Amino acid sequence: MTSDLAIDAREVVRVYGATTALAGADFSVRRGEIHGLLGENGAGKSTLVRILSGIEARDRGEVRILGTDLPRHTSPRDVMDAGAAFIHQDLGLVEDMSVAENIALGTTYVTTRRPISYAQVRRQAEDALRELGVENPDVDVMVGRLPLASRTLVAIARALAGRARVLVLDEPTAAMQGGEVDTLFRHLRALADAGVACVLISHRMDEIMRLCDRVTVFRNGADVGTREMGRTDRAELVSLIIGTPEAGAPVPETVAVDTGSAEPVLTLRGLSGDGVGPIDLDVRPGEVTVITGLADSGHLAVPSLVLGLEPIAEGRMTLSGRPFAPRGISDCRAAGIGYVPPDRLTDGVATGLTIMENLYLNPARPWWKPASIARARRQCAEDLKRFRVHPPEPMRPIATLSGGNQQKVLLGRALVDDPRVFICCEPTAGIDVGAKRQIHGLLRSVCRSTGMAVVLVTSDFEEAADVGDRAYVLNRGRLVAQLSKHELSTAAVTAKSFG
Ligand SMILES: Nc1ncnc2c1ncn2[C@@H]1O[C@H](COP(=O)(O)OP(=O)(O)OP(=O)(O)O)[C@@H](O)[C@H]1O
Ligand SMILES: [Mg+2]
Repeated sequence: MTSDLAIDAREVVRVYGATTALAGADFSVRRGEIHGLLGENGAGKSTLVRILSGIEARDRGEVRILGTDLPRHTSPRDVMDAGAAFIHQDLGLVEDMSVAENIALGTTYVTTRRPISYAQVRRQAEDALRELGVENPDVDVMVGRLPLASRTLVAIARALAGRARVLVLDEPTAAMQGGEVDTLFRHLRALADAGVACVLISHRMDEIMRLCDRVTVFRNGADVGTREMGRTDRAELVSLIIGTPEAGAPVPETVAVDTGSAEPVLTLRGLSGDGVGPIDLDVRPGEVTVITGLADSGHLAVPSLVLGLEPIAEGRMTLSGRPFAPRGISDCRAAGIGYVPPDRLTDGVATGLTIMENLYLNPARPWWKPASIARARRQCAEDLKRFRVHPPEPMRPIATLSGGNQQKVLLGRALVDDPRVFICCEPTAGIDVGAKRQIHGLLRSVCRSTGMAVVLVTSDFEEAADVGDRAYVLNRGRLVAQLSKHELSTAAVTAKSFG
């Protein structure tokens, strides 16, 4: 039987032990449309993607892709043959292989029996990346050495090189910057115009609203609504996602502790590195200091300089008034600086370990005393609630948490040590709209109540304005503005970034 639908999934059920990840979800996508999939962290989006892709079997329900009925235990190969390609939340690339080899994994290796010529593999990879707007692709570099946005493009190039007619992307933009997102979206639109059905999962509402033709919202493992994009708005979508009307209240103010002199705890003077600087910047205790800018503004390079991950060309820093020149993360940790990197989901999770082990994964932390394991567990459960991890079960393997909840564990990891300075990059990438607000509240309250200095490095201007007490805006590697609390607004940050 033929079907007009690219994806037609009905009443899909998937249960993991005590967790019902999918409770009878319907999901259908038309040929040639871009279809958004929204829902809270843990709503079941990635589970559906894994079932559609044949990585996992469903317990019940029907799945048809481009008219092909797929049995309950189908294989990724059968799904690929039916014409669908998938970009998973963790990308699924082989880090020790080159870009060219990774792209070939999606195509040549499985479609030809002739010996493979590396020159051909390279050419194919270069073509696929050029098609995605990458100007001078270096296809010989190991994937593990690439920044996350580039890795995402490699994964997409691999899917496209397979000539798919259905493309499903699970949070491809979570760690991307504005310009990279635009490039990706231009390509998705062109693919859709050529008849390819695209599914886009994202927690960034503005992206979904900008790009998608239709959108479906999942809650607690089931679909709760599908809308034409022109006939809905943000407020309706948010209330479908969280199940109640959106509370429009701003992040609550917490009473500030007296940070005494409010002398800066960390200072940067004339700091410059490859393509960034010179930067003068003060980080004060009890405040959220924002570093922001557009995609290529260089704002993400600042923490790399501060932590000693990239070489400093000129300038100096002080920490608590003394000269400071760390040579990497462990120096910083010893000096009381916590760090959350931007591309943590593919880098930071120790997949074989429990949530508790991941949360307290710090060799320098002497928490592991056999007599106090029960206490450590109780403490951990509390910490998990504080960081909004769901479910807050210390002994669960971290791999069984949804992507967004893994992100929250990694954010928590840097906070449990009570750092004096907490540098976090894109803390709410991959976090749903409801939890995002809670994380903002958490950042504000830890810094107000403990006097911790929070450095928030973000390309989300709304986040910068909502959470920051002071913002430094970069443009083409240079510091172009410093906005104090009363000057700080989304509009002001946007204006300075483009200025
Ligand atoms: N292997 C597993 N074992 C046990 N529970 C699991 C497993 N995989 C997923 N789950 C649970 O299934 C539920 C749905 O998870 P899923 O990853 O599909 O959420 P999601 O909608 O993709 O969320 P996010 O936006 O955070 O990525 C979660 O409660 C998760 O903890
Ligand atoms: Mg997910």
